[in-house]
Amino acid sequence: RDIDPTLSYRFACRVGVCGSCAMTVNGRPRWTCRTHVSKVVEDGRLEIAPLANLPVIKDLAADLTPFFEKWQAAKGSFVPTRTRADDIAPIQPSSPERRAADAAIECINCAVCFAACDTVRWNPDYLGPAALNRAWTLVNDVRDGGNAERLYAVAQAGGCHACHTHQSCEQHCPVSLNPTASIAGLKRRTMRAFIRGELS
Ligand code: FES
Repeated sequence: RDIDPTLSYRFACRVGVCGSCAMTVNGRPRWTCRTHVSKVVEDGRLEIAPLANLPVIKDLAADLTPFFEKWQAAKGSFVPTRTRADDIAPIQPSSPERRAADAAIECINCAVCFAACDTVRWNPDYLGPAALNRAWTLVNDVRDGGNAERLYAVAQAGGCHACHTHQSCEQHCPVSLNPTASIAGLKRRTMRAFIRGELS
């Protein structure tokens, strides 16, 4: 801000809530607002770059359009089965489905995992960890009615079976989620649907 006011970069909350400030710091994707310089500086050197695996709009601001388009491709939108006139769906917090959804639900779409993922880098069709993690939360949401379409979408080329289980997403996620585990769940569910003849 002081050294070069023309430098473009993105931020909003500055407290690790919105995920807007993700950039590459000394080669690793991070939330810059929650990164202490003293903890990441290497030999007195600090290199800041835009998020990898995304087009750059200007300077440090990456274009997240491809990231969100992949959310859509993975059917990451909730498909309601009730209207506002219906009773609220009773959800048992201890049920296996709800526990599986809860384990993955805190994603704030910062795209750090997308930038960290080797498979995203070499496979332009790959939906990526965040989109597949989101799909897994919905697969386990008993209120959702979009699973036939969703499982079909994530079973295609570039879907969950393209993941090589490198676990870079899990290593870099700022909120300690494990998208690799979610993707493994999708691999099991899509395989089961395939065997049952439900993938069409
Ligand atoms: Fe919101 Fe960094 S500015 S998480």
